[in-house]
Amino acid sequence: MNDLNIVILAAGKGTRMRSQLPKVLHPVAGKPILHHVLAAARQCQPNQIIVVYGFGGDQVQQHTPGDDIQWVYQAQQLGTGHAVQQAIPLLPDKGTTLILLGDVPLVDVTACQHMLKQAAQQLVVQTFIKDDPTGYGRIVRNAAGEVLAIVEHKDADADQRAIQEVNTGIMAMPTAKLKQWLQQINNHNAQQEYYLTDIIALSVQQGLAVLPFVVDDAWSVTGINSKQDLQLIEREKQRREAEQLMQQGVTLLDASRIDIRGHLHCGQDVTIDVNCVFEGHVSLGDNVHIGPHCVIKNSHIASGCQIHAFSHLESAEIGAHSRIGPYARLRPGSTLATDTHIGNFVEIKNTSIGKGSKVNHLSYVGDAVVGGNVNIGAGTITCNYDGAKKNKTIIEDDVFVGSDTQLVAPVTVAQGATIAAGSTITKDVPAHSLTLCRAREQRSIQGWKRPQKVKK
Ligand code: UD1
Ligand code: CA
Repeated sequence: MNDLNIVILAAGKGTRMRSQLPKVLHPVAGKPILHHVLAAARQCQPNQIIVVYGFGGDQVQQHTPGDDIQWVYQAQQLGTGHAVQQAIPLLPDKGTTLILLGDVPLVDVTACQHMLKQAAQQLVVQTFIKDDPTGYGRIVRNAAGEVLAIVEHKDADADQRAIQEVNTGIMAMPTAKLKQWLQQINNHNAQQEYYLTDIIALSVQQGLAVLPFVVDDAWSVTGINSKQDLQLIEREKQRREAEQLMQQGVTLLDASRIDIRGHLHCGQDVTIDVNCVFEGHVSLGDNVHIGPHCVIKNSHIASGCQIHAFSHLESAEIGAHSRIGPYARLRPGSTLATDTHIGNFVEIKNTSIGKGSKVNHLSYVGDAVVGGNVNIGAGTITCNYDGAKKNKTIIEDDVFVGSDTQLVAPVTVAQGATIAAGSTITKDVPAHSLTLCRAREQRSIQGWKRPQKVKK
């Protein structure tokens, strides 16, 4: 929108969070509360976004990227009006300003856009009817229903406290008017604060009617003040994420037991079992099935894959029709081609695995390049680390690695080779041969007795 400025108030301490972390940096769905507000602000396409910060300011800036943000410091939190006053030097004399609260992450963008359509000439205040309005600023109207003022809870008399219509804190107004009104507010009130809400009465005094904009979604006006609030908002946000997935056709075995901390993109006929956590950017192709209790972060899983229970994937690429887990761990840099099988208690790191290859049991494969149609037996370990640096293991196509093999990197196993079980491979293995390397051949000692426990 042309000539739109958005001011986000985020200087409050958030004492009730009982945390070293500034309130607006506490995460909802994996990203700081403030980032949700910023995302909403950006959807309104403003000319500039001004964030008024205070407590823990350096941290807030460090963790909030964005060239489009103007940071304004409020050294002392002397009230919401004082906070907006700090932004005055950055506000032009024309256009519209929208005020948002930095601790209201589920702010309703559509409502804001509607408010903005009417805010070029007058002050628009977002209000909400609350069963228990305690603590909020009350919307005082005259008999004709026109808004006269906002009275803060601590300044309100008994009649005013009975009013259930409250100020959500979100307002939009002509910028020039805002600047003018902000010069006129004072701190002569119960909290000795400069209230932004005093501009309502100032507008009315000037003969400029204030337009109330009543919203009915309680979540969209809920500010986070405590860990309890944080948890409630988190659950609501997750409920919405799950709802959206189901609308897109994703099958969720329990919509209340999925957590999406980032973006989850799903193809058609995806099924997700209970208690899965998705972080960062995750994409699931058509017909992917995710078993229960999986944690999947920044990964790409192609169509037809089955990820079995308790698997943990981070920065992994899984080719189509692969089968992972249960209890598999794919660490960053795991790139699997189509039709691969990674079984239970297998850890893969910084490794590519070719088409149709299998690592089915109890193995560690790190810093390796594994070809196609390879079978890696149970308990195989790539000894990739010599204490100083990481070394590569190369396993070419059609190799068979027997169980309990150690591959001491750097080492190459050439195409079609077979390694006998229990081998410790320290030299390159030639193609199409059987290689075995055991400490000594098997022998048996007849009549050998196990040590006996001594009876006391
Ligand atoms: C404010 C409103 C109240 C409204 C309520 C909605 C005022 C005077 N009151 O009350 O009418 O019902 O929000 O939640 O505006 N902040 C600063 N600097 C300050 C003070 C506050 O940046 O000096 C920020 C806070 O970080 C927060 C927001 O402004 O994001 C609201 O401040 P808060 O102290 O929560 O205001 P309330 O007293 O709850
Ligand atoms: Ca508040």
